[in-house]
Amino acid sequence: MTILHILTYPDKSLAQPTKPVENVDGTIQQIIEDLASTMYNAPGVGLAAIQVGFDKSIIVYDVSPREAKRSLQVLINPRIVTSEGEMLSEEEGCLSVPDFRADVKRAASVLVEGLDRDGNPLSISADGLLALVLQHEIDHLKGTLFIDRISALKRELYKRRVKKKLKKE
Ligand code: NI
Repeated sequence: MTILHILTYPDKSLAQPTKPVENVDGTIQQIIEDLASTMYNAPGVGLAAIQVGFDKSIIVYDVSPREAKRSLQVLINPRIVTSEGEMLSEEEGCLSVPDFRADVKRAASVLVEGLDRDGNPLSISADGLLALVLQHEIDHLKGTLFIDRISALKRELYKRRVKKKLKKE
């Protein structure tokens, strides 16, 4: 079990679009294992490979209630095919944006297509928490963080806070 270091804003990798996975091979299986350990250890409900510096379109997530048994989900090269409606993601957060939360406008439901961890096509129709997690994680693959989706004023406040903190260190 390997716990990987999670990159945080303003690391430049987090702002770059990721590359699609060409072959779902052993390297990909290993990174999926490491992503899962890192996500559960954090703990978080979702993690994109780029958050640990692995530049491929892979996300892992688990939205099962904490008491329930773990149910790791993996999506390779996922994309949102359709999205409908609107909902407010209350107090959204991100392992790469520590100590900050904000409400984010998200689609109410999404249809996502991608590959499962064996490389087989998969399509997921989601609403509620799962829809939010999928939108958040797929955003990471485009180099978008949730702070890119909040008001400029709130974003500036956060950026200033990070700059101050980096200066102190
Ligand atoms: Ni995130």
